[in-house]
Amino acid sequence: MAHQHDVLVIGAGGAGLTAALYAARAGADVAVISKLYPTRSHTGAAQGGIGAALGNVEEDHWEWHMFDTVKGGDYLTDQDAAEVFAREVIDAVIELEHMGLPFDRLPNGKIAQRRFGGHTKEWGKAPVARAAHAADRTGHMILQTLYQQSVKHGITFYNEFHVLDVIFDKDGRAVGVVAMEFATGELHTFQAKAIVIASGGFGRMFKVTSNAYTLTGDLTAILYRKGWLPLEDMEFYQFHPTGLYRLGILVTEGARGEGGILRNAEGERFMERYAPTIKDLAPRDVVSRAMYLEIREGRGCGPNKDYICLDLTHLDPEIIEKKLPDIAEFTRTYLGVDPVKEMIPVVPTAHYAMGGIPTTLDGEVIKDGENTVVPGLYAAGEVACVSLHGANRLGTNSLGDLVVFGRRAGLAAARFAQGEAFVDLPPDATDGARELISKIKANSGGESPFAIRKDLQDTMMENASVFRTEELLEKQIGILKELFDRYEKVTIQDKGERYNADLVEAIELGFLLENAEALVHSAKNRKESRGAHAREDYPERDDENWLKHTLIYKEGNGKVRFAYKPVVITKFEPKPRAY
Ligand code: FUM
Repeated sequence: MAHQHDVLVIGAGGAGLTAALYAARAGADVAVISKLYPTRSHTGAAQGGIGAALGNVEEDHWEWHMFDTVKGGDYLTDQDAAEVFAREVIDAVIELEHMGLPFDRLPNGKIAQRRFGGHTKEWGKAPVARAAHAADRTGHMILQTLYQQSVKHGITFYNEFHVLDVIFDKDGRAVGVVAMEFATGELHTFQAKAIVIASGGFGRMFKVTSNAYTLTGDLTAILYRKGWLPLEDMEFYQFHPTGLYRLGILVTEGARGEGGILRNAEGERFMERYAPTIKDLAPRDVVSRAMYLEIREGRGCGPNKDYICLDLTHLDPEIIEKKLPDIAEFTRTYLGVDPVKEMIPVVPTAHYAMGGIPTTLDGEVIKDGENTVVPGLYAAGEVACVSLHGANRLGTNSLGDLVVFGRRAGLAAARFAQGEAFVDLPPDATDGARELISKIKANSGGESPFAIRKDLQDTMMENASVFRTEELLEKQIGILKELFDRYEKVTIQDKGERYNADLVEAIELGFLLENAEALVHSAKNRKESRGAHAREDYPERDDENWLKHTLIYKEGNGKVRFAYKPVVITKFEPKPRAY
């Protein structure tokens, strides 16, 4: 079946819905394709808050927010992006409020704000309350609010459609996509004047992750496979310090924002040693490394000394029940631990990709180190790299990113669509997707996707997570080659058309492998430590050689090539980063 829309958005999380909403308000005919029902998108899992210098609780300024974002990103953040963000997120939060988002309130009626990692006042002197929140369900509320607005604006939704290809014309303009309808197995073509990719991250390549099952990096992989489109800064992958032990389910940083403390087996508040000024509220890369070091040095908690304790027992129980109700429930349900009375076992959990599809400040996808724009193609949210988060994202800046850069991408896409005509899709537009499906269905005698995926997740966790070395990354490159070989023969049981979850799992595994290849090669290539990329063999940040963004291109046969893009520095010269 063929469809046609001015602006087509892929992904129905916060970035996708914001882009869709603004494009529709600008007069475009907009459709959203999502492999889920929109309100199940992963934005709904974001808990603690959206950071904006509203100054409702204490003095705050957008310049402080910009500075924290740049420093948090270990100076790899593009400062033009950070400035746009820190200024615009203030209005974005107010607008969400006006759309009906039920933020928590202060007694004076203003939006309540709490402290979060790396957010400070007076250029790093002390933590500041910057995270506007709706209990620990902020992402959920944002998603519901945006979806209601999208329905109100008459946006068309194609739910449970899996995008398998993006189609370009001979001049490199994006002109449409091919997607498989889950209910029927039918391939649909979508012709669009402008396409906005907002499909989220790829945390499922790791064994312990806060990411939903669906976060398999489909669109980063689809573009990367083309060979002429790069991915940016893929080596920078964030581990959130507090995932529930073994499960990885997120325990919001807002718990530490409300006064929670991380303790080792000796009961010591060890963050005082690693970040004496802001302690437990240091940025995530710093805290996750500290936790791993404590465990490595034998001070982990529990019989196997393999986790850290998050202590909320000194907090007023009302704070836990009212401001952190979801995490209290998760902890009770999944670990049988009551956070009012007992400490919560936590470990760092794979959480967020700082890298992704390179874009301009208006979400236009770029294809090289000279910022050459790919006409008709936009990206926003976690899938994109604008680069706001640099080498390490601050908590709450993801929700802000979705609304600020989702809005910019939606408006830019609508503007582009206004001035352009539809381009006919080539007659062979569906060939790539059709071949992908038939090949997987035709395979027999190979392994199931589950076996290959488990090995991918286990080995990525071992060799390419918080701490890295040349040796481990080289080893992982070899493992990935073997996994790609095994994937060639991946075999599924269900050969049918309708609701073929087996097929979807196999396709998604292929996407995960591509993302892992890009991440591991980029990590091996970057010979320094910066933000979330901690190379034990190159422990220092090296601004002389590495103050630049990585662009990785797939060459095929396990080979890749690199190009680079300068970091935009406007207000803050790189300095040693201490907290
Ligand atoms: O800790 C959290 O609530 C997560 C927020 C985020 O990733 O920004």
